[in-house]
Amino acid sequence: MRVSTEQTIAALGRESRIFEPPADFAANANVKADAYERAEKDRLGFWDEAAQRITWAEPYTEVLDWSGAPHAKWFVGGKLNAAYNCVDRHVENGLGDRVAYHFEGEGGDTRTITYKDLQDEVNKAANALTELGVKTGDRVAIYMPMIPETVFAMLACARIGAPHTVIFGGFSSKAIADRVQDCSVEFVITADGGYRKGKASPLKAAVDEALESCPDVHTVLVVKRTGQEVAWTEGRDKWWSDAVDGQSTEHTPEAFDAEHPLYIMYSSGTTGKPKGILHTTGGYMVGTSYTHYAVFDIKPETDVFWTAADIGWVTGHSYIVYGPLANATTSIMYEGTPDTPHQGRWWEIVQKYKATILYCAPTAIRTFMKWGHQIPAEYDLSSLRLIGSVGEPINPEAWVWYRKNIGGDRTPVVDTWWQTENGQILISPLPGVTATKPGAAMRPLPGIVADVFNEDGKPVGNNEGGYLVVKEPWPGMLRTLWGDDDRFQRTYWDRFPGVYFAGDGAKRDQDGDIWVIGRVDDVMNVSGHRLSTTEIESALVSHDAVAEAAVVGAADETTGQSIEAFVILKQSAHGGGEDIVAKLRQHVREEIGAIASPRSIMLVEELPKTRSGKIMRRLLRDIAENREPGDSTTLADSSVVDRIRSEVSGG
Ligand code: WT7
Repeated sequence: MRVSTEQTIAALGRESRIFEPPADFAANANVKADAYERAEKDRLGFWDEAAQRITWAEPYTEVLDWSGAPHAKWFVGGKLNAAYNCVDRHVENGLGDRVAYHFEGEGGDTRTITYKDLQDEVNKAANALTELGVKTGDRVAIYMPMIPETVFAMLACARIGAPHTVIFGGFSSKAIADRVQDCSVEFVITADGGYRKGKASPLKAAVDEALESCPDVHTVLVVKRTGQEVAWTEGRDKWWSDAVDGQSTEHTPEAFDAEHPLYIMYSSGTTGKPKGILHTTGGYMVGTSYTHYAVFDIKPETDVFWTAADIGWVTGHSYIVYGPLANATTSIMYEGTPDTPHQGRWWEIVQKYKATILYCAPTAIRTFMKWGHQIPAEYDLSSLRLIGSVGEPINPEAWVWYRKNIGGDRTPVVDTWWQTENGQILISPLPGVTATKPGAAMRPLPGIVADVFNEDGKPVGNNEGGYLVVKEPWPGMLRTLWGDDDRFQRTYWDRFPGVYFAGDGAKRDQDGDIWVIGRVDDVMNVSGHRLSTTEIESALVSHDAVAEAAVVGAADETTGQSIEAFVILKQSAHGGGEDIVAKLRQHVREEIGAIASPRSIMLVEELPKTRSGKIMRRLLRDIAENREPGDSTTLADSSVVDRIRSEVSGG
């Protein structure tokens, strides 16, 4: 069934149309419907076949060893080098002149990085890291803007078997210090700064501050991006150009065990302390390259692929760096914000490089909706043949707007569900197979066994909701949490024994298709970024003036959720007024980063608590969303909600 999109916005809330893949897309698709059947019959055989996408220095002897569940070993005994798979083998195959990245700086400066260029730069960087004392197994922290050197640095680490931990450039010095300490980093790669919103914004300064509490860091390699002034610690700090440029472009990659750590990515959990999610090499490379091939229908000879995300998040790791490079793809890398210097910046880039596939977050799509469809309409977007969404639930209105105004009412839309822990896309339409429904991630990819469980761990029926789970291991899965295997077990595997619990709620519709609703724990999703309520509460409470704090995520039209804080001040801090609110906001920025800054901080006299002292965030969410508060019978003092409401409304 295909109906025109000329329906009113009002009707979209009840969006029930189904979009079949265009016939020519379906006919030429990389992956056809038979993949589901093959994977269902022989799941490990299916992943064995997918693993042939990777070049193994030594073959594996077993696809999966799950005997130590929940600790998976994929491609047991196999050896490989991730950087070799991303770069060298393509050059060896005669693809050295193919563009790996069209880099576009925010200010309009550009660089074209071919696979041969990439090989030279990665090799030089690998030689430099070795010369500076980085050894296999050492962790390297990377705090960078969105520039090609970020990829060079990551692949240089992978090449020598030193797991990287990339820290998103929006995080504060405190967040850097926490991560550097948590995985005992001694080597940091950063830049003087990067361009954001038309300005040179500092990065090294945050590293300098962080390292005051990280005495073990002996070397900081600094890429010159903006030329802004930086402080310099002699003996510790070295310019990237001095250390790297003169190195040999020859470097022999060592083959590492399939389970050798590739990287650690920190992500918020339900407690104050971020989790160091560990990914290893073989399974991750297979998972990202297969899903990139299948979900984005990649044709490396002709496609120009653009993941408009930051490399500092898992989306960037898997679909700007490892997946696309493993598949010898040409990608776009854009440094800046969507509205610098104007609101048509993304569409200008699509037009300029003739992007064929765009992958971004619903929060961006909703922002573009707000700016108006006439902005993308000024550009030629006809090169696009597929568009994707990731990071949060996409509401049907945004999905339909995206398809119509960016996809020209022509391209398939893939709503892809996965998490930092997953490493790879798990639930998504296949663009040449699936008839899509706006707002639905639809069904698990071939080789993935996911389900929706009720409280008792039984699969729900159609038209029922519950908890999203993954019932069988998958290649790109996390292997543990760095330094906290107990927490790994507790967080993901204890809720439903033997089954991976994702922390998301989902429902199955009348056809059994999956709609992901969002987190069911104390984790918020703000503009596609995962933030923990507890972490922000701890940050607030660490301020002198604060006695107690509660944070909730309230529904927000553009960002998905917004951070709303309720704060009880210490007696001594009363009378601080507006000033104290501004100070607290600044304090959270310093503790975690600007992305964690609450939209509103409401000063209250008390918080709604159960008799056992647990804050009832549900009621605070009702208040923040301006709704009649729900059941408050378990409150120790049921009148407290009314008092907070009158405080918040200023009455
Ligand atoms: C959480 C994971 C994976 C890349 C970026 C986010 C939410 C992610 C979807 C989607 C509904 C989604 C979930 C998940 N989420 N994709 N397509 N539909 N929700 O990675 O920071 O690890 O966050 O993002 O709530 O648990 P992350």
